[in-house]
Amino acid sequence: MSSIDVVTGAFGYTGKYIARELIKRGRRIRTLTGHPERPNPFDVEVDVYPYAFDEPHRLVEALRGADTLYNTYWIRFPGGNRTFERAVENTRILFQSAREAGIRRIVHISITNPSEDSPLPYFRGKALCEAALKESGISYAILRPTVIFGWEDILINNIAWFLRHFPVFGIPGHGQYKVQPVYVEDVAQLAVQLGQQEENVVVDAVGPEILTFEALVRLLRDATSSRARLVHISPRLAWLVTQIVGWFVGDVILTWDEVQGLMANLLVSESPPTGETRFSTWIRKHGRILGLRYASEIERHYDVPA
Ligand SMILES: NC(=O)c1ccc[n+]([C@@H]2O[C@H](COP(=O)([O-])OP(=O)(O)OC[C@H]3O[C@@H](n4cnc5c(N)ncnc54)[C@H](OP(=O)(O)O)[C@@H]3O)[C@@H](O)[C@H]2O)c1
Repeated sequence: MSSIDVVTGAFGYTGKYIARELIKRGRRIRTLTGHPERPNPFDVEVDVYPYAFDEPHRLVEALRGADTLYNTYWIRFPGGNRTFERAVENTRILFQSAREAGIRRIVHISITNPSEDSPLPYFRGKALCEAALKESGISYAILRPTVIFGWEDILINNIAWFLRHFPVFGIPGHGQYKVQPVYVEDVAQLAVQLGQQEENVVVDAVGPEILTFEALVRLLRDATSSRARLVHISPRLAWLVTQIVGWFVGDVILTWDEVQGLMANLLVSESPPTGETRFSTWIRKHGRILGLRYASEIERHYDVPA
């Protein structure tokens, strides 16, 4: 068995924790990334390769000789020529390249409740990626996380940022739809554990707490010592506010699809929890410094040509 694994986005968010977990276990890491120039956060060498989706032979070379591919690649929203259709196609190319390179197993990070029939392109695209993996003939583990919380997270951090910087926070609709956040280290440990197995599995990667969205916002408000008043507003208005603020911070804060996915209870699972870390405990411990700075998706991912 090769001592090398490939982690896409090993200098990013979830991929970094997966890589860290693998390094702890003595594995050597290669990464595929859109930002090959980013500094290596580890104290061991990591071989870096670009996402050469339009030159699959380069992907094959990057993957050859490795054992497991941990795939985090996806886009949160379309921009320029980065469409969901293209992200699905890129994922398909990645899986085909992995097969050609002789990769033994793929651990693929998906999302809870993906569906090819979903009207939401994010969830539909994720279902199509899962189908492509199942068709690839490679041994696989599919992990379906809900919202992943941790230091480098964007969505929860930015709710905290809103609570710190505005006197009022608008909750879309009644706020009683559910979320089941999962801690990034718990996702990484599960990914690596499943990477070592052989059988094909599909697992929801979910935390031990199910909260209403309003309860989550209240926890964040308390943890950040915010005095923002919580008000219930129409989902469209809530989204519009994020559009306007987004214009000032130069980011897409929230997409309309994300509002709909959240309100349709797509970020909650019926399976038993896989992660142990409680969102409420983590937030109480770290909320003091959460959301001090705005975390920008555009800055993180759209600063280089596709
Ligand atoms: N974050 C969450 O709360 C959450 C919840 C459920 C599921 N997931 C899934 O978990 C996986 C990892 O998510 P993450 O938040 O940890 O992602 P991430 O590390 O920010 O990005 C994962 C990989 O995708 C690439 N990427 C992201 N956006 C891109 C864009 N617009 N254009 C081109 N490449 C892009 C990144 O490129 P670089 O290497 O250049 O950074 C990185 O290699 C994804 O498949 C996501 O759908 C995440």
